Amino acid sequence: MDEKMKRVFSGMRPTGKLHLGHLAGALTNWINLQDKYECFYEMADLHALTTDYQNPFGIRENITEMLLDFFAFGINPKKATVFVQSKIPEISELHLLLSMFTPLGWLERCPTYKEQVAQLKNKEITNYGFLGYPVLQTADIISVKAEKVPVGEDQVPHLELAREIVRRFNHLYGQLFPEPEAILTATPKLLGTDGRKMSKSYGNAIFLSDTPEDIGKKLATMFTDPLRPFRKDPGHPDACPVFGINALYNQANSLSIKNDCLAAKLGCTECKKNLTEVLVQYLSPYQKEREKLVKDTAGFDRIIEQGNEKTRQLVSEVLSEAKRKMGLYGY
Ligand code: TRP
Ligand code: SF4
Repeated sequence: MDEKMKRVFSGMRPTGKLHLGHLAGALTNWINLQDKYECFYEMADLHALTTDYQNPFGIRENITEMLLDFFAFGINPKKATVFVQSKIPEISELHLLLSMFTPLGWLERCPTYKEQVAQLKNKEITNYGFLGYPVLQTADIISVKAEKVPVGEDQVPHLELAREIVRRFNHLYGQLFPEPEAILTATPKLLGTDGRKMSKSYGNAIFLSDTPEDIGKKLATMFTDPLRPFRKDPGHPDACPVFGINALYNQANSLSIKNDCLAAKLGCTECKKNLTEVLVQYLSPYQKEREKLVKDTAGFDRIIEQGNEKTRQLVSEVLSEAKRKMGLYGY
């Protein structure tokens, strides 16, 4: 089959404004894929509900913030179809059908499930919906019969489950869905201002929409090489989170920064100032684009409605096929 015609599906939980980690880890990949495949990109608001059902009231605003970043950075709604999961009820219906034949053991054994239940101790998430998180993700992917799924390493167990669920469907009811394959995002994980993985929930993120002042302040207080107590000491760029950002967003200068840091020719204050300038310059055109989009709310709403509409048409055909295969009345 022509690669161009292959379908790509990916989703993101709407956690709000995107940060540098999202851009390097997913968004850049999504933007590149839209020229090579037929892409569907989902705002997975139902997935967000599986963990945030006690306080879901920010999800709606988060979707808007994320989509603004998407479009400002180059997701092109003329090329890729962008839509909101909860606006496609057929996905939820497909999820219900898959839940009939997905063994509990597969879900209970899923490493991401065990890990999250252990980690999110302050949240009660041993719920039906959360256990079924990978089933809903499978419904997402196969709702458009996608063959390729760009994701990070952490999602590999979900993709494996999706393939198993697909095989089981095809075996029980006849061939209908392709087995989806992961396209792994190969970027190293970006560290935040406190040296932990960059994440909104840690409060250590540099957002794509941060002002120059914010970026300057965040970088000024950012963790550096812990083994370099004095300016005169040689640095260890590979252990420095500031260098991590340079390596991705200041590639042209990263070799000289590395050498100057290793030779103690470059101090951290200066290094951070330089990076602030580079980031501010890099983000500026996108931020201007974002401001334009914010002002045109009607145009923005229309883009999302069109994406929802296009997805819904396709998914409802696929759902009918699935119901027919499963012998439901009237199909
Ligand atoms: N679970 C994914 C994540 O947390 C988000 C997601 C939802 C997704 N539906 C998807 C990813 C379908 C790929 C395909 O990152
Ligand atoms: Fe990190 Fe830059 Fe300081 Fe080197 S000079 S330790 S790369 S902040």
